[in-house]
Amino acid sequence: MTDKATLTIGDKNYDLPILKGSTGPDVLDVRKLYADSDHFTFDPGFTSTASCESKITYIDGDAGILLHRGYPIDQLAEKSSFLEVCHLLLNGELPTAEEFTKFERNITYHTMLHAQFDSFFQGFRRDAHPMAVMTGAVGALSAFYADSLNVDDPKQREISAHRLIAKMPTIAARAFQYSQGRPFVTPRNELSYSENFLRMCFSVPAEDWVPNPVLTRAMDRIFILHADHEQNASTSTVRLAGSSGAHPFACIAAGIACLWGPSHGGANQEALEMLEEIGSVENIPAYVQGVKDRKYKLMGFGHRVYKNFDPRAKVMQKTCYEVLEQLGVNDPLLKVAMELEKVALSDQYFIDRKLYPNIDFYSGITLRAMGFPKEMFTVLFALARTVGWISQWKEMFEDPSRKIGRPRQLYTGATQRDYVTVEKRG
Ligand code: ACO
Repeated sequence: MTDKATLTIGDKNYDLPILKGSTGPDVLDVRKLYADSDHFTFDPGFTSTASCESKITYIDGDAGILLHRGYPIDQLAEKSSFLEVCHLLLNGELPTAEEFTKFERNITYHTMLHAQFDSFFQGFRRDAHPMAVMTGAVGALSAFYADSLNVDDPKQREISAHRLIAKMPTIAARAFQYSQGRPFVTPRNELSYSENFLRMCFSVPAEDWVPNPVLTRAMDRIFILHADHEQNASTSTVRLAGSSGAHPFACIAAGIACLWGPSHGGANQEALEMLEEIGSVENIPAYVQGVKDRKYKLMGFGHRVYKNFDPRAKVMQKTCYEVLEQLGVNDPLLKVAMELEKVALSDQYFIDRKLYPNIDFYSGITLRAMGFPKEMFTVLFALARTVGWISQWKEMFEDPSRKIGRPRQLYTGATQRDYVTVEKRG
């Protein structure tokens, strides 16, 4: 017999089936609750609500665990490549050598953009935030690749997924080059995913671009660390947008818009700006006092799910040191970051609230050392997260119980009343 919980409202009892996952908390199935009892559940911010069933990513926030299809993030970051992780997220398994060759070829085949797409960028101001450009450009893909928009056709869904993973680096690099007033660089398909991206970002016609394997590996690792993160705000946005049957490119544009916010992906830019504002180690105590006085938050700290540590932050910190060492960069902000981390982790205010550095705390310093301006940080996050978004979107379409997402509300506004003509108001 299925486990169940019993909810009592007044003198009536309602049985709620308890569904079990493969690991993690069980869930109370409230799908019939409204029909049976005329009550909704109330959970703004979804702090206790599972919005879907998924087999892609598992997080245990208390234990600091992040698994993609069962594989721990630190193992993937250490041993795998971003494209392999893309295959894993999209298809459920690490690829065999043969599958990987085919997958890599499929992605490579789609790296170019329609020639007319380049003129689309010219419509933006050069000083536009690259996330604004990304939101517009990715949404516009639907206008250029109309042959893969039938969401009910698995083959077309697959082509859209491959196109997105392949074209995001090209679009992101164009957004960057455009903001710098430099010409666009055509993708080179013989290069690896991350090397190709770095070349498209930093190559200029006046001189040869020299790849740096440490930076290429760091870029790939940063992409792996950001590839998916379960049902976060932007992923839920993509699923909700997709639940209506909207085109996949439009759904990803919605995800990018959501990611931009400072509480989500925009935090990496804000974390670096905060370190710049603090400026030097002597200013840390006063800044931390401001946080405790609730004047502002410590950006790059805290997480809705991780209440112990963010396993991605540990790998990011290691990558940060590697990059700075390779480039011989002595960034004073790293010293500020390390001291701030130490102070915050030993302060009761942060201990009581279980606030630990998240992935964004060290990613800004790393990306800055690699030559990216801070406005690009969230763009890189969006590029990497695209595979997570599209994998979750694909999973939603493969679920036969898919329904349009339609939350309910606790209404506290005026009850029905009659219209009053203007002269009788006030
Ligand atoms: N600095 C100071 N205090 C904080 C911080 C922070 N960064 N984050 C949370 N708190 C405090 C809150 O003020 C609250 O205190 P209270 O109980 O005394 O009122 C308590 O900790 C709980 O905070 P909530 O807002 O309820 O936590 P929630 O889970 O809703 O927020 C969030 C998570 C949005 C990530 C939050 O920690 C935050 O804004 N952090 C800074 C932005 C950031 O780094 N975002 C990146 C997230 S990771 C990512 O998207 C890749």
